[in-house]
Amino acid sequence: MKKMKTAVFVSGGGTNLQALIDACKSGIIVSAEITCVISNKDDIYALTRAKEAGIETCVIKDNFEDSVLSFLQEKGVELIVLAGFLSIVGKKLIQAFPNKIINIHPSLIPAFCGKGHYGLHVHEKVIAYGAKLTGATVHFVSEEVDGGVILLQKSVAVLPTDTPKVLQKRVMQEAEWIILPEAVELVSSGRVEVNGRTAIIH
Ligand code: GAR
Repeated sequence: MKKMKTAVFVSGGGTNLQALIDACKSGIIVSAEITCVISNKDDIYALTRAKEAGIETCVIKDNFEDSVLSFLQEKGVELIVLAGFLSIVGKKLIQAFPNKIINIHPSLIPAFCGKGHYGLHVHEKVIAYGAKLTGATVHFVSEEVDGGVILLQKSVAVLPTDTPKVLQKRVMQEAEWIILPEAVELVSSGRVEVNGRTAIIH
């Protein structure tokens, strides 16, 4: 079976990338293969994880959008996964990959999302607000930051003793590392139909 060539974009520790690599090995993902890992920084642990898994890496610091687009086209990439990629993806890339760019966000969108909501800041804001429930969302990337069609969500409890770091870890373990591989398999196996704002899963 032909697998969908997938690029994973990273900017940090790469635990979500690791979840994807592990899911390819364990058979949770069978319809996609990670053919390259792309970063806008060169000193991040995510790149080490990629190299250890034998996956090609590419660091692009200048003229990101045009450079990445030609790299992806040259490699025949069909699906892009933003896995802790902390830059905003531009219009050109979004238009070149319609409904083929997915992002994991560490909250239940539309809460605690949009500009300035990334990484640990999201969990700081959840705790400061006093929310009892948070979680993670996988969505298609559109030109509105965190505003694209929602593919999967999973909720996680916020506990009274939580610090942002403790909550971040729980959201990753109980939600992100589960729904991101699931979403990649759903999209790459062609089981997702987008109808207006709704993702219908077949
Ligand atoms: C993850 O929690 C991811 O959801 C978040 O950054 C972290 C990256 O961790 N992404 C965003 O906040 C995007 N707005 P990782 O590098 O260990 O996967």
